[in-house]
Amino acid sequence: MSTPALLGGKPVREKPFPAYPQYGEEERSAVLRVIESNVLCSEVGKEVAAFEHAFAEYLGVKHAVAVVNGTTALHVALAACLVGVADEVIVPPYTFIATASAVVNQSAVPIFADIEPKSLGLDPLEVEKKITDRTKAMIPVHMNGYPCDMDSLLAVAEKHGITVIEDCSHAHGAWHRGRRCGAMGRIGTFSFQHKKNMSLGEGGIAVTDDDELAERMRGFRSFGGTEMVYNYRMSEFHAAIGVERLKKLDTMNDVRRANAAFLDKSFDGYPFAQALSLRPECVGVYYNYVLRYDEEAARLPRSEFIRAVEAEGVPLPLVYSPVHLKQVFVRQNAYGHGHPFSHPAYGGKVSYADESHPVSEATCGRVNLEMKVHPPSGEAEMADIVRAFEKIADNIDAVRNHLGRS
Ligand SMILES: Cc1ncc(COP(=O)(O)O)c(C=O)c1O
Repeated sequence: MSTPALLGGKPVREKPFPAYPQYGEEERSAVLRVIESNVLCSEVGKEVAAFEHAFAEYLGVKHAVAVVNGTTALHVALAACLVGVADEVIVPPYTFIATASAVVNQSAVPIFADIEPKSLGLDPLEVEKKITDRTKAMIPVHMNGYPCDMDSLLAVAEKHGITVIEDCSHAHGAWHRGRRCGAMGRIGTFSFQHKKNMSLGEGGIAVTDDDELAERMRGFRSFGGTEMVYNYRMSEFHAAIGVERLKKLDTMNDVRRANAAFLDKSFDGYPFAQALSLRPECVGVYYNYVLRYDEEAARLPRSEFIRAVEAEGVPLPLVYSPVHLKQVFVRQNAYGHGHPFSHPAYGGKVSYADESHPVSEATCGRVNLEMKVHPPSGEAEMADIVRAFEKIADNIDAVRNHLGRS
């Protein structure tokens, strides 16, 4: 049995995992084409329009509105749905802060509903408990590329007349019963930030089948219409790269799925962690591959288990913490004077610090292990991940003793 690296042994992996994302000749020529056109702005050029057309077609929807990032995609979506002062929008605590901060940016109040442990997406039963006559919308997030329980969430939304905006920032190309994530809610939003499954460095897009919502989002994005207006336009560069990245998306997602299948098989029976399964009606895209760690079985806090695995050369970064406990929400001081939480027109009262969302808190605090399975990583890299985990399992007593002493 080899010695864990934490105890002075040789790590499983000494070279870093391959860099992600990697761009190719196609993206390079797209950028050059834009430069050579001397038109870098979408008001004048054709690249953004072409990208929007391609993305809408890929998702099977009528309209796509490209913007500067995923946060503004959520913002234009909320604005188009006429969310505003005194409205509530239900969001999960287990997400990136942007899902909730976009709600505040539109002067509405985020209401947190816990997630369910199967997909780690909004729990329809928890959502229903949070609905009031102020609830205007909900934002299910397909976290880590594992689609949410959309059947139940859409049914709850329909029953209560609530708008669904899907945050698909982790779910480019994922399926739910033959429909792409993003094509089920009234609007779907995506981020193209550096690490995302479809990476353009920065960028975002909002999609819809509704002509009126699309028109409002376009106005909001680019100084049009009579509502509040901004410049949230995507650059021609990003759109030109976007067309090329979209062509590669399915192939890249196939690699993620093959890597995930390898890990699923390898972790079957692993003593301290279980793979998160996809809901059976879904095809996932594994923005992160998720294992659910069992601290009691390992008799080792997750942070120390992670330290031991990372010493073997396998990164397990923790990115998410419960959003309702972020300072901006706990202190309810987004823009000063308590706006929008204490706006006189708002009839509700929130006290985020006192809320309890046990599944989200456990997921972030002690259960989830999240790892990257994107290309160009393949079977060799996945095998190293498995070897690192196995090595720690084989040496768990020594690791426990070592960490107990240090
Ligand atoms: C779930 C989720 N929603 C929204 C966003 C915001 O996207 P962006 O960083 O492009 O503004 C992110 C980004 O990382 C995200 O993970």
